[in-house]
Amino acid sequence: MNEASSTRVRRRGFLKLVTAVPVAGALAALASPLLRLLKPNVPKFDLLRPTAPDTARGEAIVAASLSELRNPWDFKYFVFTQRYPQYTPQGFKTASVPGVAVRLPYKIRLPLDWAQAIGKEPPVRESDIIVFSRICPHLGCIYNYVPNYREVTAGYGGYVPPPQRQHALMACPCHLSIYDPADRDVPGRVLSGPAPRPPRTFLFEIRNAEIVVTDVEPGGIA
Ligand code: FES
Repeated sequence: MNEASSTRVRRRGFLKLVTAVPVAGALAALASPLLRLLKPNVPKFDLLRPTAPDTARGEAIVAASLSELRNPWDFKYFVFTQRYPQYTPQGFKTASVPGVAVRLPYKIRLPLDWAQAIGKEPPVRESDIIVFSRICPHLGCIYNYVPNYREVTAGYGGYVPPPQRQHALMACPCHLSIYDPADRDVPGRVLSGPAPRPPRTFLFEIRNAEIVVTDVEPGGIA
């Protein structure tokens, strides 16, 4: 091969290479989403679990002192402030969650299984104190703690509780959902009305004879 023909061969090789690079790039660009689809490199999204970065966080506050909830059915209202990650100038949005701490006449297993999903371990698992969010799981009204069940019958749609539930109840003025805070199997059980589930609960611990709430069950209204 003379000098001229070997130059031609080299040039052809070079041109092939120059053409092959963008073609290979374009093929890789097309194949990438397909490979990503077949083998995702992000964890599967679980609709039922809150994701840690999106979970609202609150500052621990004292909901009540033990002396304020000395007797069965004593209660205390409080307001818990949560910060939600948001694209606001401050980087977060705050929301107030009204709550109620209740002294029950007996100990129950607290419905705190949700805590593990946000990386927390409930410090109190069984207690005669329970702390509920007051946001009604139906459409988000603020329900009331009603110490006298007769007031529930008179003022919340005529619901008459059976003898074993004739004690303090929780009742929503909007569409008359009634809850039993002391149900042994499902604390906050829906007794009447359209609510789809019991109110959400708070994590709490006892510090220096005070009930300190540290987190609230995540999720939407219902
Ligand atoms: S918002 Fe409470 S019952 Fe509808």
